Amino acid sequence: MKRIDHEKLLMIPGPTMVSSEVLNAMAYPIIGHRTEEFRTLLEDTVEKMKKVFITEGDVYIITGSGTAVMDMAIANTVDKGDKVLTICNGNFGERFSKIAEVYKGEVIKLEYPWGKGARPEDVKKILEENPDIKVVTVVHNETSTGVRNPIKEIGEVVKDYDALYIVDTISSLGGDYVDVDKFHIDICVTGSQKCLSAPPGISAISISEKAWDVINNTKSKSFYLDIKAYRDRFESKRESPYTPAVSLIYALNKALDRILEEGLENRVKRHERLAKATVAGLETMGIELFAEEWARSITVTSARYPEGIEDGKFRGILSNKYKVIIAGGQGQVSGKIFRIGHMGEAREIHILGTLAAIEMAFKELGYNASGGVEAAKDVLGM
Ligand SMILES: Cc1ncc(COP(=O)(O)O)c(C=O)c1O
Repeated sequence: MKRIDHEKLLMIPGPTMVSSEVLNAMAYPIIGHRTEEFRTLLEDTVEKMKKVFITEGDVYIITGSGTAVMDMAIANTVDKGDKVLTICNGNFGERFSKIAEVYKGEVIKLEYPWGKGARPEDVKKILEENPDIKVVTVVHNETSTGVRNPIKEIGEVVKDYDALYIVDTISSLGGDYVDVDKFHIDICVTGSQKCLSAPPGISAISISEKAWDVINNTKSKSFYLDIKAYRDRFESKRESPYTPAVSLIYALNKALDRILEEGLENRVKRHERLAKATVAGLETMGIELFAEEWARSITVTSARYPEGIEDGKFRGILSNKYKVIIAGGQGQVSGKIFRIGHMGEAREIHILGTLAAIEMAFKELGYNASGGVEAAKDVLGM
């Protein structure tokens, strides 16, 4: 196997950099998952996860990536023919539609062009026209476009209807402001590998009382992802029904400690600062941002390539010469935009280093970028 270069700066929007403290937690000896030691670990991790979700509801840790809990949310609430309103302005909003179609829901899509944010008044209009909608899905932070959807305001709308409010916070929880109970979120899903700064492979889901009423009357379409199995095993034994990723739970537990030590508010402020610096740096270089201003993410910044810059060449120089990894576009914006993740463990120096590398790579490809690092430094007060 070709040697893997571990010295690169990982600035993609997930998986993100993981602290050595969290990585080391994965080296603890494996313990049996039906032991008191594991029960204590799981219970403690769930309690910390509840603090990060900010919920009094139930929380489960699932062995599986973020898509597993998106799937779980739908498989346990949607029956054949149920109306599902999916808010779509990127790849992950679309994913909810695809999952709902798998379970034979009747999908009503509220679509926006990629780069635009969802409007609560549009959600209200559709709910008024379709009072029998059973579930509304939205992605808080559309990682594919760098758009942040207004989940608090959409929650204010959905709470006045019977529909369940399902929110994907996979690339925002632990980096941006999410308050599950205050935002009236019935099912919130997240993944370990983004703003939580833990390794990829596990995910978490929160369930409100209103969601339980629906789940209790819906037969799960999935065996592995049947929420009732997780609830019953946790309530009776404080265990998970199937063998969990013990080492990843150790790591998540440590990552949650770090988040709670920093404080959720401080953490959001740090992400805001880093996003502002990234935006200032790119704009000073004359680069056009992709997401519209009012709906810009604070965990990932997306920008359009200047005329004549080829995605593969640009990111190739960044990776091979400057050892900085950023992401390209997905789907319909593939080759047209690039995305910088500034979430989790990202700090000021990582932003400055990334902008410096971007400036140099652009210059090498004939686009005269300059002043980006200085502009970011000013924002950061350095
Ligand atoms: C907003 C969002 N939702 C869902 C997913 C899917 O998560 P996973 O790749 O962990 O299954 C991602 C991953 O990038 C994401 O960013």
